[in-house]
Amino acid sequence: MGQGPSTSLRANGVGLGLRGETHGRDRSHSLSPLRPRLPRHPRRSDSTPRPGRKASRAATGGNLQPWHIAIVQGEPMTRLKAIMAEKIATGVTETPAYDIYPKELVAPYRDRRYAVGEAMYAHLGIPRDDKTARRDWFARNFEFFGAPAAYFCTVDRRMGPPQWSDLGMYLQNLMLLAVEAGLATCPQECWAMYPETVGTFLEIREDRMLFCGMAIGYEDKSARVNALRTERADEAEWLTTIR
Ligand SMILES: Cc1cc2nc3c(=O)[nH]c(=O)nc-3n(C[C@H](O)[C@H](O)[C@H](O)COP(=O)(O)O)c2cc1C
Repeated sequence: MGQGPSTSLRANGVGLGLRGETHGRDRSHSLSPLRPRLPRHPRRSDSTPRPGRKASRAATGGNLQPWHIAIVQGEPMTRLKAIMAEKIATGVTETPAYDIYPKELVAPYRDRRYAVGEAMYAHLGIPRDDKTARRDWFARNFEFFGAPAAYFCTVDRRMGPPQWSDLGMYLQNLMLLAVEAGLATCPQECWAMYPETVGTFLEIREDRMLFCGMAIGYEDKSARVNALRTERADEAEWLTTIR
């Protein structure tokens, strides 16, 4: 990502598939897009959905707990979506917060990324040459796929790769806890393509970097995309056992 307006929304752009399996537990049927017509606000009376709090029990190196989470819902969410709709309609782009993928994405990673994008669009019935339909689909990211709430995860810029793995642990916990609570999520790195907009909106401190957003809501089981199952490489490609 990070190349410009058309590529930023191109067919095989950021994480276009919406499926995934988690270790030890299948969450493949619980991902986005999320049911658009279900509650516009969380059912709980407090303002922080419970999974976001419990997820902070994630293990971290040295107990650094390097994440910071902002939760957006209700009227502010409506405003953020309107801001993004305007930016996308007018082709505004920003310098991404970081390289979402390595600049030189080599095989097999490049092939996998391409394959999941193509599989998803095939599943949706969107042809390869229908760039408009692909862009429109990708733009739904910035509507949170209809979800009623979203998390944004930021990290102190002085943190390094090991602490980014801590963020992953928090976010994975969050996704699993969401499933346990009957909710579904979609992690969204695409928000890192608009760090200025999100940073201004959320009043993110300069010393923090936006990692990703995460839509949370109720799965729309009738949505075709939610029936997509992604591939996993053969164990022989990634597993070595030393006996
Ligand atoms: C860190 C992270 C960021 C993601 N960002 C996006 C995103 O911006 N938009 C999207 O639609 N899906 C996003 N996804 C969901 C992936 O596209 C989805 O998991 C996809 O199916 C990739 O296949 P896999 O999960 O089986 O590896 C993201 C997933 C992760 C873990």
